[in-house]
Amino acid sequence: MNTSLRRVLIFNAIFIPVLALSLGVTAYFVQLEFRQLAEQHVLENAHLMMETAKASRVYTTEQIEPLLTREEARVAQGVKDLNDVLNTQLPQALQQAVSGLPNTKQRQTLQVLSEQIVQNVRQQPRTIPEPQFAAQSIPFYAATEAFNYFRKRYPDYSYKEAALNPTNLRDRTLEWEADVVNIFNRTPSKIDLVGYRDTPEGPSLYYSAPIRVDSQSCLSCHGNAEDAPPEMTKIYGKNNGFGWKLNDIIGAQIVSVPARLVNEAADAAVTRVLCWLAGGYALVFVVVNLGVHLLARRA
Ligand code: HEC
Repeated sequence: MNTSLRRVLIFNAIFIPVLALSLGVTAYFVQLEFRQLAEQHVLENAHLMMETAKASRVYTTEQIEPLLTREEARVAQGVKDLNDVLNTQLPQALQQAVSGLPNTKQRQTLQVLSEQIVQNVRQQPRTIPEPQFAAQSIPFYAATEAFNYFRKRYPDYSYKEAALNPTNLRDRTLEWEADVVNIFNRTPSKIDLVGYRDTPEGPSLYYSAPIRVDSQSCLSCHGNAEDAPPEMTKIYGKNNGFGWKLNDIIGAQIVSVPARLVNEAADAAVTRVLCWLAGGYALVFVVVNLGVHLLARRA
């Protein structure tokens, strides 16, 4: 073998592993960086979702609840007016008509008749429904339900308002969720918590924030079971979701995302970057080899 070829071969015996090693090391760090970026991105999404959930809570409190209260008041007023007509105005009007008659016989006949009319009208079956509890006006219900619609398009994301002692049992904390709530309880200054946990579908990333009983108004439904609206306890019972205290942290909002989403997004970007890098390295390889070849021939 001629010496110039041997030199090129020796050079490449060192150069190729160095190139490969540096490509490998770069790939490793690029992947690390990209995964971190992707995690940040997913967490920002989770944070946004939580803020959206909070917004739907405020919307319910400020717009839906007053609307329902006004409608209920309107219906109650209507029922009261109706009863007023039946029990007072109609009998009074008939009485007036009776007393306006000049003839005693006619008065007596009309008196009997009018009493019958009033009786008949009162006895007509009337179905005025009882006031019903509308969970739609409950801020936390609204947030969960709104998120369920969101999930139809983004099934990977899940949202829960997990409570240690919930009104609706679907909101009861699982073991790991209770741990999260307890961390918030031990460190009240904490405003959010991020972590990974293993699930049967693979690792999952969660973002959580504490739920605090931040207003006296909450206690009208979550304080003493006896003080809660009866329409509410008829549905949810009196055993759970009560006994909360002002300023207690009773649960946590938790958004979960499969970690696979983070990795998939990152890895796709890493692959693209590595393709470009590999292309660049190949170019360097060719140019350097040409140079070495020329030098080796001249030497
Ligand atoms: C009018 C009664 C009422 C008021 C006032 C009220 N809640 Fe609720 N809350 C409920 C009901 C009913 C549910 C269960 C809704 C459902 O079916 O998801 C609930 C659910 C919740 C949940 C989800 C966990 C669970 O218990 O199922 C949280 C958290 C919560 N409420 C916190 C609060 C806070 C904090 C306040 C005060 C800012 C408040 N609630 C005010 C009635 C009320």
